[in-house]
Amino acid sequence: MKKNNIVLIGFMGCGKSTVGKKLAGALGYAFSDTDAMIEEAYGTTISAMFAEKGEEYFRNAETELLRKLSKDAEGLILATGGGMPMREENAALLREIGTVVFLETKIETILERLQNDTGRPLADGEDREKRLRPLFEKRLPVYRTAADYILDTEGKSFYAIIEEIKTVTDGVTKK
Ligand code: S3P
Repeated sequence: MKKNNIVLIGFMGCGKSTVGKKLAGALGYAFSDTDAMIEEAYGTTISAMFAEKGEEYFRNAETELLRKLSKDAEGLILATGGGMPMREENAALLREIGTVVFLETKIETILERLQNDTGRPLADGEDREKRLRPLFEKRLPVYRTAADYILDTEGKSFYAIIEEIKTVTDGVTKK
């Protein structure tokens, strides 16, 4: 029996935080974002953490947070950092935490959304597209495997996305 939490996964800019907040409001659930939780716990920003301690340090902080959430999360909509399911242990922990929904979005849409974005170390700087496309290709099958439910967000309103998540998480979840 799945716990009563919904976990949103997907690439940077796929809408996890925006969808998550709206979904939490609609269901009367609490909302948390793993990036924000890590920033609060470590008293720093993700960008500063990458710059000062390196990516591996951040990835360890992600795993540690998931271990904790797998024990105590309850009635939660959890938006996760885009790299979260890449570690096998994390993918297993995410499924322990709750029903995992992958917000699938095209790389073209993501690149457009991230155009003026700062604060995401992997997307910052020159040659953004050149770096993000291969990362996206590498991650896509991992997101799909990690998910209980794959939701194609293309061309859908937030309202439609939320209704779809509500439907699939209400009863049986399937791929
Ligand atoms: C990352 C995505 C970011 C954040 C960090 C690394 C990634 O979260 O965790 O910058 O590896 O894709 P969002 O997906 O919320 O942007």
